[in-house]
Amino acid sequence: MLEMSWNIALVICVLIFIAFTFVVAFGAPFLPTLKQRVPEALDLIDLKTGQTLLELGSGDGRILIEAAKRDLNAVGYELNPLLVVYSKLITLKYRKQIKIKWGNYWNKNWAEADGIFVFLLQPYMTKLNQKIIKQDKPIKLVSFAFTIPNKKITKEKSGLYLYNYRQSHD
Ligand SMILES: C[S@@+](CC[C@H](N)C(=O)[O-])C[C@H]1O[C@@H](n2cnc3c(N)ncnc32)[C@H](O)[C@@H]1O
Repeated sequence: MLEMSWNIALVICVLIFIAFTFVVAFGAPFLPTLKQRVPEALDLIDLKTGQTLLELGSGDGRILIEAAKRDLNAVGYELNPLLVVYSKLITLKYRKQIKIKWGNYWNKNWAEADGIFVFLLQPYMTKLNQKIIKQDKPIKLVSFAFTIPNKKITKEKSGLYLYNYRQSHD
């Protein structure tokens, strides 16, 4: 009986380990944005009521909650199934505004975004830039900690970088 309990505990630990590590094949591992930076990120992106914030890798949902508190719609893509379940639970109160979807954000449609928040890793920033340009619409991007090579930063605060994308015919 005791041996079976240990085996179950071991399987659970292995599954948790896998959920948090396999994502590095597709993006940054889980490391939440510092609490103090969360309101600053939303101040910087400055979206208007009813606009949509897209978060690529929404982690524990802290950015989505701050967006909902500011009357924004918020969509998060997250690959780690445990974080999807956790963040769906803690955002239940805001379920009309917050949608959290399990999946790889590189394969998803970003068309609904008025603003995008990311905390990625430097090697993904060029790919991110190319995919945002392809949307061909005005989009504000806030990136925590990492910058887009050769793109002008609109504003910077405490390691948060704001970029503005325009439509190609503007
Ligand atoms: C550095 S953490 C940032 C979490 C959250 N954005 C924040 O700022 O608190 C990166 C998150 O992206 C998720 N992730 C990494 N690659 C992904 C991908 N390709 N598609 C969806 N989620 C991904 C990870 O599981 C992790 O939760």
